Amino acid sequence: MSTVTAQAPAKINLWLSVGPLGADGFHPLATVFQSLTLYDLVHATTTSPGSGITLTVEGADGVPVDRTNLAWSAASLVADELGIAADVSLHLVKRIPVAGGMAGGSADAAATLVACDALWRGQVGRQRLMEIAATLGSDVPFMLHGGTAIGTGRGDRLTPVLTAGTFHWVLAAADRGLSTPAVYGQLDRLRADHPPASEYLSDDVMSALRAGDALALGSALGNDLQQPALSLMPSLGQLLTAGVDAGALGAMVSGSGPTCVFLARDRDHALDIAARLSGAGLCRTVACAAGPTAGAQIIDG
Ligand code: C5P
Repeated sequence: MSTVTAQAPAKINLWLSVGPLGADGFHPLATVFQSLTLYDLVHATTTSPGSGITLTVEGADGVPVDRTNLAWSAASLVADELGIAADVSLHLVKRIPVAGGMAGGSADAAATLVACDALWRGQVGRQRLMEIAATLGSDVPFMLHGGTAIGTGRGDRLTPVLTAGTFHWVLAAADRGLSTPAVYGQLDRLRADHPPASEYLSDDVMSALRAGDALALGSALGNDLQQPALSLMPSLGQLLTAGVDAGALGAMVSGSGPTCVFLARDRDHALDIAARLSGAGLCRTVACAAGPTAGAQIIDG
């Protein structure tokens, strides 16, 4: 019996511009992803031939442990690619908020792809793993890629972005999750009378990243999904205000929410904002994380 352990980071979208709904049911995006030092782990262990995939989860409630979990599909696709039976036990250690807009499920899928590839000594290859990742979900390719990257198409076509320095973030998770399709649906309803011409990137975000300028980045952050997330969960407005009052350089809903992220000057400033937000009693958990960091990778085995 052998085990491989992989980790994958949480992501935030520093910029998320959403174009009009396409015929494929997806919205074209112009987004900037950044991976953060908050990781889910996947332990993949060989099992006896014919036993199939088994899945266990620690650290979160309500995560499916059957084939509807993206990690299960990821293991199955790697086995298909290698032409072998998918006999593996997967154990997920969840630290990224579930249904929080930080791509926790996608992180688990990306970690499972690299863990199973290593466990089965398959050497599927990075390029092919990226293609398989895109079939699992729009955010999965970035979870393999990591760092800071522009995402176009569904968010799955990536271009790396060079950044200077490290940015320090505070993450505040809400009591319950928001469904990504529901938030996109709400966006379509809110702008039914004035659909956007197209998605676009922000020069201000790109130059702040190049310069490593947290102050400039804080005022340039933008997310088209913030308004629909706020309209589905109005209490997020108070949380964002509390973060700004606590001194954050920028505050926004992460991806489709409801996790909110706050940009700090440095690590000590992040700890200070986190302490104030914890005291405000407006969210379930508060954590500090830095970005960018590497994408999914093997850490043991
Ligand atoms: O790709 P993923 O499974 O994460 O997408 C979940 C849902 O989010 C999609 O079914 C779609 O409703 C919505 N979505 C979208 N446009 C995107 C990405 C996701 O409308 N670019």
